[in-house]
Amino acid sequence: MSEFERTFVMLKPDAIARGLIGEIISRIEKKGLRITALKLLQVSRELAEKQYAVHKGKAFFEPLIEYITSGPSLPMIVEGKSAVQAVRTIIGKTNSLEASPGTIRGDFGMTLERNVIHAADSVENAKMEMAVYFTEEEVCKYPRSDEKWLYE
Ligand code: CMP
Repeated sequence: MSEFERTFVMLKPDAIARGLIGEIISRIEKKGLRITALKLLQVSRELAEKQYAVHKGKAFFEPLIEYITSGPSLPMIVEGKSAVQAVRTIIGKTNSLEASPGTIRGDFGMTLERNVIHAADSVENAKMEMAVYFTEEEVCKYPRSDEKWLYE
């Protein structure tokens, strides 16, 4: 049986500039996940390079860092059973053009390079990415009132 886990999610500058914060957060909440940390900030080059360290050296690294530092972003920590998989399912494929309708990228994006939202692809990467933006003291501990209905 799956256990509660934490994942890292970040609304990128295009999502903020396009006024999609409420819409996207609403989808995360409706799914049954709980948001336990969240902050709006202008990401520095240093933080962006730490977050995306696994992509350093790839052709898209520099354009990616420029995109992520081009305006405010909204990093957050999201919790639930199998939270990593749950979030990746609702955000859709990395390339917004290929992401299914009904997913966040499928509904709000057109390209791979401007794909509205990031989510960690594993518990290990989530830990590393969370540590870039949050301290343990910043993570709120609380249950959702509907958890007894969300899970068996
Ligand atoms: P994200 O889920 O944030 O992880 C890495 C990001 O790099 C990805 O979403 C895209 O925004 C961006 N990116 C740009 N080009 C590519 C590419 N060719 N392959 C993967 N990611 C890319």
